[in-house]
Amino acid sequence: MRAHAGRFSIWKGASQTMGELAGRVAVITGAGRGIGREHALLFGAEGAKVVVNDLGGNPDGTGADSSPAQQVVDEIVDAGGTAIPNYDDVSDWEGAKRLIDQAVHAYGDLHILVNNAGILRDRMLVNMTVEEWDAVMKVHLRGHFCTTRWAATFWREQSKEGRDGRRSVINTSSGSGLFGNVGQTNYGAAKIGIATFSMIADSELARYGVRVNAIAPAAATRLTAAFSEGRPQPPPDEWSPQDPANIAPFVAYLATEDCPIHGRTFLVTGGQVHLFQPFAVIDTVEKKGLWTVDELRREAAHFADVPFHLNNPFEGQMG
Ligand SMILES: NC(=O)c1ccc[n+]([C@@H]2O[C@H](COP(=O)([O-])OP(=O)(O)OC[C@H]3O[C@@H](n4cnc5c(N)ncnc54)[C@H](O)[C@@H]3O)[C@@H](O)[C@H]2O)c1
Repeated sequence: MRAHAGRFSIWKGASQTMGELAGRVAVITGAGRGIGREHALLFGAEGAKVVVNDLGGNPDGTGADSSPAQQVVDEIVDAGGTAIPNYDDVSDWEGAKRLIDQAVHAYGDLHILVNNAGILRDRMLVNMTVEEWDAVMKVHLRGHFCTTRWAATFWREQSKEGRDGRRSVINTSSGSGLFGNVGQTNYGAAKIGIATFSMIADSELARYGVRVNAIAPAAATRLTAAFSEGRPQPPPDEWSPQDPANIAPFVAYLATEDCPIHGRTFLVTGGQVHLFQPFAVIDTVEKKGLWTVDELRREAAHFADVPFHLNNPFEGQMG
């Protein structure tokens, strides 16, 4: 993956108080590689104090390695930014607590939580094992819950003490969950769950000054290597719509103190930011009383022919 070398030269040595996220404390999960790494580098460049979390495992979630998180921290610090590493598993209840506590102890507050860590265990439903199902649910759904829950606990305490802040949570959904993708019942179910989790969390946490949004990113990383294989690549010195660095600016915008957006889900890829609407009612049949099956056979069968307009920019490209 091409590095955005130009960006570093823009901000390297610049005053950290000038950035869009100056002084804000951010936890970013799965920030040792891919999309999360780019979030961390940009957040560091924009003046945030960043806790770079990464378990450092394989794409299927097995294994662990502290070097990816440490390398990203080194890059941020070398360029004049502020960052510390964390190697906890975000789906571990106590590990997620350590992560949130680490930010608060090191930097005195927490303003931004980016839940990004993720794995894949793709398999057709008919062959999927319960271990493959559980592993994906655990990292994505439980991993989003555990960190957000501990952050919410901290923010409620702050609020009780009269220290309301402008906090932001950015969760990571997927086109696989929002549009559906063959071979990913586990991953898609977890990712649509994350979009709904985000909407509900936004409603619940608004009273503490917390906005919650979700993004569905699309970029070339090790998780999408199978899809990108054989596709034409732009020359190394040209902007690539596949670059994971393209996702970070919108996430940074959602994390800014005065951003008004909350409770929304976006698809972010290349230079595009698409706003989703949630599941919506598009047709209705109604009777003032108890339906019979035969009446519904006559009145409801046309639901089979009501068209959906998914506006999927990846139509025909996935699966
Ligand atoms: N790349 C895409 O096009 C795409 C599309 C849709 C959604 N996503 C989502 O974006 C996020 C980032 O994916 P990526 O493509 O950058 O993949 P990646 O594999 O490059 O990065 C994911 C990182 O998460 C870390 N991680 C995994 N499990 C962890 C755990 N339990 N605790 C802490 N860290 C953990 C990994 O070590 C890895 O460094 C994921 O949630 C993924 O599902 C990516």
